[in-house]
Amino acid sequence: MAQTEPDPEELLELSSSTRSLLNQHDLRPLWEVEEDLGTVQNDPEAGIWKWEDIQSAIDSIEEDVPIADLPPGFQRRVAVPINTSLGNAISNTIYVGVQTVSPGETAPSHRHSANALRFTIDGHEDMKTVVAGEEFPMRDNDLITTPQWEWHDHVNDSDETAAWLDVLDLPLVLDSLNARNVFENHELERQPVTKSQGYWDSQYGRARDADESKDTSIPGPFEGIREATPPYRFGWNEMEETLRQRADNDEPDPHDGYSLSYVNPAAGKPPLFPTMSFRAQLLNDGATDPHFHSATEVYFVIDGTGATHVDGEALEWEKWDVFVVPPDEIHHHEPDDEAILLGMSDRPVFEAFNLYAEAEPSS
Ligand SMILES: [Fe+2]
Ligand SMILES: [Fe+2]
Repeated sequence: MAQTEPDPEELLELSSSTRSLLNQHDLRPLWEVEEDLGTVQNDPEAGIWKWEDIQSAIDSIEEDVPIADLPPGFQRRVAVPINTSLGNAISNTIYVGVQTVSPGETAPSHRHSANALRFTIDGHEDMKTVVAGEEFPMRDNDLITTPQWEWHDHVNDSDETAAWLDVLDLPLVLDSLNARNVFENHELERQPVTKSQGYWDSQYGRARDADESKDTSIPGPFEGIREATPPYRFGWNEMEETLRQRADNDEPDPHDGYSLSYVNPAAGKPPLFPTMSFRAQLLNDGATDPHFHSATEVYFVIDGTGATHVDGEALEWEKWDVFVVPPDEIHHHEPDDEAILLGMSDRPVFEAFNLYAEAEPSS
């Protein structure tokens, strides 16, 4: 009897228990939504995805599907929060997903035109994301950039499953701009490691290359594009230390608490990407003042408990929950005690066109 190739759809068959967990908690596997993140909708709603629900879904997907069974081009095992008022993403501009890699697994090397970053949820010294020839260890709460058109693979040499938040500008690129996410798989599963650990960090400290004419633009089809975001790891220890210095010495922002921007290390200022900005926010001074703005905000709870009130609805959050504040809705944060949030925003897109507006509600 002639051998037939296995049907990729068959390999991706999820168990009924995984499927029901995903449906119940408004999550979908990436390979089912990647080609169609939905169309731009006028009236996105606020929403929250609880970590315990995400965790049960990612554990269940991990049991069902080894990364090696995923077809080329889809080799990322990710649970994607779906905003049911939209389509297949959390917002009209920013995509987030929770990715896992089991011990011994590799999410193979590829590159694409969409900007991406990883924010480590449950990391390990031996869980590495390899970007542009360097292995970056994924320690808890580290933020690691995967800039446009840089090769990246995720290699788990530890003995624990690692999980992190993927953040990309895919809905903006694919749906709002109707641009193509130019994509390429590497010929090798793991790209060659050509740089020592710490190389990319060292290039953007206080000592810089003496040759100022050196080309730092994006390679390949994007050559010549203005100041590229470099591959870079923002270690959490340093971010938290800076947040604490702020909290000990400065006044908080009335709407966002003690708020630190992740800068583009090449430019020395935010935004981190031309399409998305990121902040670490320490809330320890009671409820913030309400405001509203044209940008969408997606939040990940790094630590603490509390609520964010959006247009009269309380999104009650705890550690590792993900929630979204749609544009133009009045909102404020109310931590129970001290809390730290990762704030993600599409504000740079509005600012690029002089369209960003922000105000407090009239009382
Ligand atoms: Fe990727
Ligand atoms: Fe806000």
